[in-house]
Amino acid sequence: MKRLTIAIDGPAGAGKSTVAKTVASLLNYIYIDTGAMYRAIAWEARKKNLDSRDETALTAVARTIQIELKNGGEGLIIFANGQDVTQPIRSPEVTAFVASVAKVPGVRKALLGLQRQMAVSGGVVMDGRDIGTTVLPRADVKIFLTATVEERASRRHKELLTKGYSVELATLKQEIEERDRLDSERDCAPLIQATDAILVDTSDLTIEQVVQDILTICRRKG
Ligand code: DC
Repeated sequence: MKRLTIAIDGPAGAGKSTVAKTVASLLNYIYIDTGAMYRAIAWEARKKNLDSRDETALTAVARTIQIELKNGGEGLIIFANGQDVTQPIRSPEVTAFVASVAKVPGVRKALLGLQRQMAVSGGVVMDGRDIGTTVLPRADVKIFLTATVEERASRRHKELLTKGYSVELATLKQEIEERDRLDSERDCAPLIQATDAILVDTSDLTIEQVVQDILTICRRKG
């Protein structure tokens, strides 16, 4: 079967990373979490105490930071300038900061070439917000995963609890709504379903069902 390029986009908490990771592992493909790349930049910017409105400084961080994604047994390990930031980039502080980083055109431009390079040989599942529209507009398979905001907040809540963060469900819902708004309303590469993407609402589906649906779509393309 041809080694495909698979783009999975959608809002926060729709299940993209779990689904993308599983599909990649079943097909023996590389998984690329582009959200983690924005998070690594946000983490570095916070470490440097940068203002979220300072686009010049944020762009400079994006241009100079060394980001590496390595496959570990438990999933992807993310390195920023050689330091393992897999855990800290998921903190509520970085999560609250990252949308302002992701809306800066210079930041997005700095990551675009890197992301395209990572997908150049195919055999890749890349997840994010603008993969099907901007990063890989010629991807073989484009999926747009979504779920109700209530369901997404509840999933994030459970995920954070297992990681030891205790955050109110109502607060998470508000944060997700705010992040959806920022991601969808920004001028540069907003979160939007590509016209040729297949919409999958995961609200009432298990991970396994979503994965099987995507594998079926891939078989038709392969
Ligand atoms: O998927 P995530 O929650 O880890 O993404 C973190 C942030 O990065 C989120 O605000 C959306 C943004 N993002 C983006 O703008 N484009 C991408 N391709 C991936 C993520």
